[in-house]
Amino acid sequence: MSEDEVTRALVQAADAARFAPSIHNTQPWRWVVRDGRLELHGVAERQLTAQDPDGRMLLLSCGTALHHAQVALTAEGWRFEVERPAAEPLAVLRPVEREAAHPEATRHLQMLQVRRTDRRTVTDDAVPADTLRHLIKETEEGGARLHVLDRDQVIELAVAVEHAQKAEDTDDRLRSETARWVGGDRDEGTGIPASALPEEVPLATVAERDFQTRGTLKAGGGHDQAASYAVLYGSGDDDADWLRAGEALSRLWLAATEQAVSLLPLSGPVEIPSTRHTLRGMLAGTGHPFLAVRLGTLDPAESAPPRTPRLPAGQVIEVV
Ligand SMILES: Cc1cc2nc3c(=O)[nH]c(=O)nc-3n(C[C@H](O)[C@H](O)[C@H](O)COP(=O)(O)O)c2cc1C
Repeated sequence: MSEDEVTRALVQAADAARFAPSIHNTQPWRWVVRDGRLELHGVAERQLTAQDPDGRMLLLSCGTALHHAQVALTAEGWRFEVERPAAEPLAVLRPVEREAAHPEATRHLQMLQVRRTDRRTVTDDAVPADTLRHLIKETEEGGARLHVLDRDQVIELAVAVEHAQKAEDTDDRLRSETARWVGGDRDEGTGIPASALPEEVPLATVAERDFQTRGTLKAGGGHDQAASYAVLYGSGDDDADWLRAGEALSRLWLAATEQAVSLLPLSGPVEIPSTRHTLRGMLAGTGHPFLAVRLGTLDPAESAPPRTPRLPAGQVIEVV
């Protein structure tokens, strides 16, 4: 295990983590390779200061990148230690030895590139109960929990989503922040391009986030009748818990992708304190909500949205 070999592996892992999902595709992370370790840092300039003043969505996003980096290291056969000081740096990965890579790990790495946020409507084929159980288990192994909502709770979620959307639509600061990150061509490597947004917000019981800008994606004419909705949650509400939840979200999302299940995050009701409280009520005192998600199956005949842009490696990875 030479120093060069470790540095190369860490740079590769940080590079693979560029594919990670993040709130409004802000990619609020930076990696530093130093002394045989990979440090993850949050980037305040890419935090949504109006929508996410406490940095919860930033930490969830950094957590997905942290998990992506771990998937990449594992796929190369590396065993590593993870520290999560949750201050700065938010986390540190330290390779300890290298062994033969598992084929399963290679498949997970492929999922990093296949995964998308797909805002098309889901089909009438529900996600099978066995698959949901598998996703619950993956989430738990990833460090958080997943509560699948019953029919009444789906209606409650729909109301919370509507409240959160209204709160966002009537606040100029929130609206202008969204407009800064969403819509258009996004040549600068961040944000959500029009090509990833539906032409019109699809009809659904639980509305998708309305980014207040026209997209070009054909969303399909369906409804969300057969979709499942779930809340990602955990026992704590500290920064370390939100980072860990991001890792679990990435693990859940990659597992869903592997099972051809589409996962759509609905973070609006978590961003607004009153609706976050509603979600907490749905968990009946068992934990703190991190994110609501829609799980469903998509029509494979329709083409998936194109990839969203990413910042170049040179801008997010530094070798000291
Ligand atoms: C913490 C978090 C919250 C998100 N919230 C939403 C949301 O409320 N609505 C939505 O349409 N997409 C949401 N997304 C998806 C991001 O917009 C998406 O990951 C990003 O634009 C990159 O695109 P990709 O996932 O296709 O790579 C969220 C993603 C993360 C990680």
